[in-house]
Amino acid sequence: MRTNMPTSLFRKSLLGLTVAAAMSAAHAQTAEVEVLHWWTSGGEARAANVLKELMEAEGYGWEDFAVAGGGGETAMTVLKSRAMSGNPPSAAQIKGPEIQEWGELGLLGSLEEVAMAEGWDDLLPAVVSDVMKHDGEYVAVPVNVHRVNWLWANPEVLDEAGVEMPTTLDELFAAGEAIREAGYIPLAHGGQAWQDATVFESVLLATGGTEFYQQALVELDEEALGSEQMVEALETFKRLRELMDEDMSGRDWNIATSMVINGDAGMQLMGDWAKGEFTAAGLTAGEDYLCAAAPGTQEAFTFNIDSLAMFRVEGEEQEAQHALARLVLEPTFQETFNLAKGSIPARPDLDMSEFDQCAQQSLEDFQRTAEAGGLVPSMAHGMAVRADVQGAIFDVVTNYFNSRDMAAEEAARRMVNAAQAAL
Ligand code: GAL
Repeated sequence: MRTNMPTSLFRKSLLGLTVAAAMSAAHAQTAEVEVLHWWTSGGEARAANVLKELMEAEGYGWEDFAVAGGGGETAMTVLKSRAMSGNPPSAAQIKGPEIQEWGELGLLGSLEEVAMAEGWDDLLPAVVSDVMKHDGEYVAVPVNVHRVNWLWANPEVLDEAGVEMPTTLDELFAAGEAIREAGYIPLAHGGQAWQDATVFESVLLATGGTEFYQQALVELDEEALGSEQMVEALETFKRLRELMDEDMSGRDWNIATSMVINGDAGMQLMGDWAKGEFTAAGLTAGEDYLCAAAPGTQEAFTFNIDSLAMFRVEGEEQEAQHALARLVLEPTFQETFNLAKGSIPARPDLDMSEFDQCAQQSLEDFQRTAEAGGLVPSMAHGMAVRADVQGAIFDVVTNYFNSRDMAAEEAARRMVNAAQAAL
């Protein structure tokens, strides 16, 4: 199976690894880091491996603490029990407002030494670095910027159905019908709460716009949560069920992506970690698969920044942890990891010429929406609200989506309660 990593970059990273390995050969492999993450799909595992190899090339050990489960809910549960027993890993994929929650517990260690030496404040946009700091000090390091509001499609299936990539929700429903008539599953989906929420937030963005998204899913404004616009978003979201197949319950997101890859399904609404799966399958963007902003959300960008937060550790483990933090923001990791992961680099100063057209579009849209006010944090991916609020919203969204008889008005009322209960 061929990989999509451009040869020059591949050579560069190999060369980097060899030089670093030679330099560190003299040191015995002493210190190690244990890193918790949930990057277990084909594309994700390839990406995570980049960091492992870079650490090992510098002479550090890597203990993989991978907990399967898209969206990371299970990983977070496991992390909490490890932390409660006083034995947290050196680093963990913790994102958004949750970084503050862990910081408040006094469990995270400062990365200021590394950040100062490497000039992180100058490298990172404030929208990114602010999230990484607790009490004014870096406690986490960003690995990437994912965009959540994407639509992926198999061009052969679209051709067979005689449709183009949909740009509005109406076009999506019409294309879906044509795809079904041509004998394929219109929309690949996995019936898991976080995937339901991922699709829901893109629909809400399309029907209500970024201002409404911000009010409802970020500020948790009660009026917005219980409004007519919310009812409309919920109803439209539920109509999407008609485009999904009957076996979706419990299906993992990457299995849904493979249905698009194999040509069983036409499209998938999913963040750009899905691109990691297309890439791992040796496919080329724009030829073998298509990407576009989720229908009706061209003017918006739902961001999801993966980051590694560092727990308070000492001695050699801290030395290894600091090396990990430094490597994560270096160009080699940022380029190689993000090519495999489907995201764009967290630092905006890198040469993007090796990246495919979806990543180029992601970067352009990130910058454009940041200026025009369409850049919003993903609720479904832990960027917008605290974990307990997010969990309560997930419950409402998923129960409504799976209920035969719950009215959208009732679901909207429950949305208000979800936000209140969590205050
Ligand atoms: C997101 C995470 C991504 C990807 C995805 C599927 O929450 O930010 O890195 O792993 O879940 O598991």
